[in-house]
Amino acid sequence: MNSKILPRFKCLPGRAGQWTLMITGGLLFFLAAGASKAATIWLDDLDLGAVNQSWGDPHKNRSVEDHPLTLGGQVFDRGLGTHAESTLYVRLEGNAKSFSATVGVDDEVQSNAATVQFQIYGDNHLLWQSRVLHSGDGAQTCNVVLKGVQILLLKVDDPSGDISFAHADWAAASFEMANGFRPVTLSSPDEVAQILTPAPRAKPRINGAAIQGVRPGSPFLYTIAATGERPMTFSAKHLPDGLSLDPLTGRITGTLNQLGTYQVTLKAKNRRGSSTRSFTIVVGSQIALTPPMGWNSWNCFAGAVSEDKVKAAAKALVDSGLADHGWTYVNVDDFWQNNYRTKDPTLRGPYRDAQGNIQPNARFPDMKGLADYIHSLGLKAGLYSSPGPWTCGGCAGSWRHEAQDAAQDAAWGFDYLKYDWCSYEDVAQGKVHSSPDLPTWQSSHGTNDTAVASYPYNVMGLCLRAQPRDIFYSLCQYGMRDVWKWGESVQGNAWRTTGDINDSWSSMSRIGFSQDPAAPYAGPGHWNDPDMLVVGKVGWGHLHPTRLTPNEQYTHISLWCLLSAPLLIGCDLTQLDPFTLNLLENDEVLAVDQDILGREATTVWKEGTERIYAKPLSDGSKAVGLFNLGETPTQIKVTWTELGLKGKLHVRDLWRQKDLGRHKDSYTVTVPRHGVALFKVW
Ligand code: GLA
Repeated sequence: MNSKILPRFKCLPGRAGQWTLMITGGLLFFLAAGASKAATIWLDDLDLGAVNQSWGDPHKNRSVEDHPLTLGGQVFDRGLGTHAESTLYVRLEGNAKSFSATVGVDDEVQSNAATVQFQIYGDNHLLWQSRVLHSGDGAQTCNVVLKGVQILLLKVDDPSGDISFAHADWAAASFEMANGFRPVTLSSPDEVAQILTPAPRAKPRINGAAIQGVRPGSPFLYTIAATGERPMTFSAKHLPDGLSLDPLTGRITGTLNQLGTYQVTLKAKNRRGSSTRSFTIVVGSQIALTPPMGWNSWNCFAGAVSEDKVKAAAKALVDSGLADHGWTYVNVDDFWQNNYRTKDPTLRGPYRDAQGNIQPNARFPDMKGLADYIHSLGLKAGLYSSPGPWTCGGCAGSWRHEAQDAAQDAAWGFDYLKYDWCSYEDVAQGKVHSSPDLPTWQSSHGTNDTAVASYPYNVMGLCLRAQPRDIFYSLCQYGMRDVWKWGESVQGNAWRTTGDINDSWSSMSRIGFSQDPAAPYAGPGHWNDPDMLVVGKVGWGHLHPTRLTPNEQYTHISLWCLLSAPLLIGCDLTQLDPFTLNLLENDEVLAVDQDILGREATTVWKEGTERIYAKPLSDGSKAVGLFNLGETPTQIKVTWTELGLKGKLHVRDLWRQKDLGRHKDSYTVTVPRHGVALFKVW
């Protein structure tokens, strides 16, 4: 008992003191009795915004398609309508007695294709699971004792693996709670944001692409990316005539007119020592011999982008040290042009001048100045347009101005063009009106004729090839008509393979783990693009820290590197936190993406929620990712046979940059929820 309070009772006079003690004692008894009494808390009274699901939005007291919750003909007025695969974490801190619910596939599903299985985990242990339920199977009830459970997981799986029609209801779902505790919903269990990448050493280390392609006569720009203490000086042996190196900045510029391959040795030196690395320059028809690495404005700023923000991003790419790891491109996405949909005066104005030249909006007063500024930092500049009359955001596109726009991009000095289908759908379907303010396009993203789907990309591809500078050509049409099979034939250097990514586990993992069919088509000069990175502060104009957990972010970066994907950071670079920076500056991980062999990883083993990916590297080793898509930590074993290897092999942990010794036949590791173990094996 608190000794400071005790004397106060002592001081109370006679009877008044007794009464006070009796009243206080009674109150304490009442409170204690009240606290231990169970209270019913309904699941639908908690914040359901924390539900992760593969399709649609979670609904309070309604089905996922917003009908009354109905199971086997019975209508429920309370509960959660979700869609498999679905997860919801609930923090209970040992204060729950039980959870009960009636579950099933909602009657709104007419097709018999749905398959779901409801599961309840307490602190990573399976406490209960339903039968595998199909549409029309009616409901199953559960009542689960939760004594001592800290974190509860309510999960709906689709055992068929195909989530079609998996409309799942947790009807009449409630907790019996003790101690007056109110459960708190979470989108993921708390996770420590572990910093894994060791800090760069003071001695120089040369990073980034070890090969660059250039076309004869095009301006050449390559900045030697190197970590280590400054000041640092740079030199190069066997640099071909036509190129020169600035020893203070490490920038190699000039032009080469002779076709050929040049082997150069780069050297970086500071007071701690020096390091060298070989660098290959290929003068020929191909550029982008490794996937591009850089930044794009869309995932953070979307329609709120401006010249100032792009310049700040370019400066931050250098000041943060990211450029020293090979991050190079600074790409403006949609909304640098004038827009027909908005009333925002900074986006309203002429789409083109009297000669048909595209006009930037008031937020981009000097396009050439912007590209020059980006180049002055040793970086490269990118731009965005659409083959249709309008971009996806409703800005002026390149339709019927393709040659003029390509020439303009080159004259301004841009090095990259993302070309986004969107309103071309209307052109393809013959629906475009001649007046610029008329079209309100409805994109079905579904043109089912490859000749039609590829035509506008070929038009722009040829226009870009006619320019006196190399412009990386990024096709954005969401994977229509298996673009990976023909993207290279229309001059594409990369092509999006899916729809847009967002910063959720379901979006990132669905996109990332479905790339196998396109993998054989990736290679030096032409890459599959599973969309931009969603780490750091993202938000499409409304910034928030990524909703991916730290382990999910390790999975994202590891997987994109294994996939030889273009790596375009999507966050606000002026607000980088130490975790995000650390995630983006692991040279051994980035080297997997930039490997000069240019092979894309594929799945070598898959069971349940476990995936093993392997990517052959140019030095004869393999980069291997062991992924756990499940909700609990899992031991995953990779055998050398699965990798096409045998014997006693070296294993190196790439995130920790640490050798793990030599291992015979296999290697086993525990991989956290939604996490990865990324190795090099040789
Ligand atoms: C599409 C693309 C995105 C982005 C926007 C811009 O959705 O897929 O990456 O470029 O358009 O409007």
